[in-house]
Amino acid sequence: MTKVAVWCRHEGDNIIGIGKDIPWSVPSDFKKFGRIVGGKNIVAGRPTYETLPPKFNKEKIYVLTSNTEYEVRNPEQHKVISELKYFKDFEEDLYISGGAGVYKEFMEGGAALMPDIVVDCVYHGEMKPLEGEPANITPCIEVLHKKYIAFGVEYEEDNVTTQIYVRRGEFVEQTVLKHIINSIINS
Ligand SMILES: NC(=O)c1ccc[n+]([C@@H]2O[C@H](COP(=O)([O-])OP(=O)(O)OC[C@H]3O[C@@H](n4cnc5c(N)ncnc54)[C@H](OP(=O)(O)O)[C@@H]3O)[C@@H](O)[C@H]2O)c1
Repeated sequence: MTKVAVWCRHEGDNIIGIGKDIPWSVPSDFKKFGRIVGGKNIVAGRPTYETLPPKFNKEKIYVLTSNTEYEVRNPEQHKVISELKYFKDFEEDLYISGGAGVYKEFMEGGAALMPDIVVDCVYHGEMKPLEGEPANITPCIEVLHKKYIAFGVEYEEDNVTTQIYVRRGEFVEQTVLKHIINSIINS
């Protein structure tokens, strides 16, 4: 029943994507993301779902879209969800995997939706000049700074700093924290 948000944002402007893509490529960061969410329940917005590579086909993915006729690529494992409230009473661990719109709805969604844990990865390098609108998560970072505290030490790898945050005053499931820490350091 633990909710975990995982993102990688660009230092300074909190951009996580331009158009449909992420404007950097750090294989170790993507592998870390895979270790964290691999085999878990994932929620992603429809545009983000469409950019997830086929290796994520086996995960249980909840695809948020207003289009109830939307066709997922693996109907046995992937499910269309059209209302955020579906996740309020979600009884298993849930890994919130973006993009900007979805992170914002969960971070600002009140006690029943807010992640218990945030894995905040910050990329310090140059961004690729991609076509499209930048998506930034500044509203989420404001909530992060007000309502969460840093847990443990920062981890640096390939120009990305990773810090775990936990919600102030909330009990955090130790097995989930352990899984996340192992996923971060076992590169
Ligand atoms: N760097 C990172 O860590 C990271 C991680 C993930 C994604 N990204 C990037 O983020 C960008 C995409 O972000 P985004 O904000 O454009 O899109 P998004 O958050 O992936 O998805 C937004 C969409 O989800 C659906 N949705 C959201 N809330 C809903 C609700 N309450 N009810 C029903 N449907 C709902 C809607 O889909 P419909 O339009 O189908 O109704 C909405 O258009 C991309 O550039 C992607 O590469 C970056």
